[in-house]
Amino acid sequence: MNLFNVYPINPINIVKAEGSTVWDAEGNEFLDLYGGHAVISIGHTHPHYVKTITEQLNNIGFYSNSIEIPIQKQLAQQLGEISGKADYTLFLCNSGAEANENALKLASFHTGRKKVIAFDKAFHGRTSLAVAATDNPAIVAPVNQTDNIIFLPFNDEEALLAAFAEYGDEIAAVIIEGIQGVGGIREASVSFLRLIRSLCDQYGSVYIADSVQCGYGRTGDFYSHDYAQVEADIYSMAKGMGNGFPIGGIAIAPKFKASYGLLGTTFGGNHLACAAAVAVLDIIKQDNLLANAASVGAYLIDELKKFDKVQEVRGRGLMVGIDLPTELAHVKKDLLLKNRIFTGEAKPNVIRILPALNITKEIADRFLTALDERLKA
Ligand SMILES: Cc1ncc(COP(=O)(O)O)c(C=O)c1O
Repeated sequence: MNLFNVYPINPINIVKAEGSTVWDAEGNEFLDLYGGHAVISIGHTHPHYVKTITEQLNNIGFYSNSIEIPIQKQLAQQLGEISGKADYTLFLCNSGAEANENALKLASFHTGRKKVIAFDKAFHGRTSLAVAATDNPAIVAPVNQTDNIIFLPFNDEEALLAAFAEYGDEIAAVIIEGIQGVGGIREASVSFLRLIRSLCDQYGSVYIADSVQCGYGRTGDFYSHDYAQVEADIYSMAKGMGNGFPIGGIAIAPKFKASYGLLGTTFGGNHLACAAAVAVLDIIKQDNLLANAASVGAYLIDELKKFDKVQEVRGRGLMVGIDLPTELAHVKKDLLLKNRIFTGEAKPNVIRILPALNITKEIADRFLTALDERLKA
């Protein structure tokens, strides 16, 4: 049996990893500034993470949500504390798309409405409603197409006001990434996020902060949206949450009422996934990784802005986009093949830096030196 061929892959077989270093089968060492797509939050094979998961697996790996699973409550308690949202409740699932799917469903249940506002270049996942709210027709199957999603230009306050004036009473939710990832590291402005908050309050709609990529401490704030100093009604999260162990979730404001069967999942919140997520939060707190992401990220961004061949540097903390001119589109590939550095990309020519939150200034310097070499080559 062959694999269903949907991923363009690099011919590299990684067999070992530690911190922000990975090794291929031939023993070649690579620097990982991609974090497996913003997933590796506390570094590969962190000893506390490996120990916590191993101990959990030796006791019990899985049982369904039909029994008490105390580690879910421990995770919720730690998450509430570190995110500053102790009064929110937590629903656990398995991925970013599933988190957004549940966030949108909950908004619709809560309001009794159908319409959702999403934005140009948004990416919210590949399942039915999440993909319908994703601005990429190539991945929306005919069965996912719906008139219920209204796409507006990103950061366009006039367009948002006009949409609410026209459909306000029909809008269940506004869903927005604090910093668009797939869309090329584009930040929602503070005034735009505040306007979303006030219009959602005025019209009784739900503000969903898609924090799947930009959240979990990556920007220095636990949820990047909170930079605007207004709270969302629902925060969706996944990637960095389990440092590679599949887990997602939504943090839900107190005004939402739960009832049995409203949401549900077989695997979500299993013992092993929760152990992974607890270990991640232990390390984020113990090693002060929010502050590290903010300071190393600020250093990296400042230094990147000094490269005159770079068109624009965007982002915050350790979610950084380096916009290159077309003639330098090969730089990302060269960084991998010649300098053995993994980075991410966004169309058309943006290098995405999404490393573990505990990278050091020395690692940032290694990348800056390599980029300088590539830009001069
Ligand atoms: C902002 C955002 N939302 C949702 C998703 C979907 O997450 P997943 O691939 O875990 O379903 C992604 C994945 O890249 C994302 O970047």
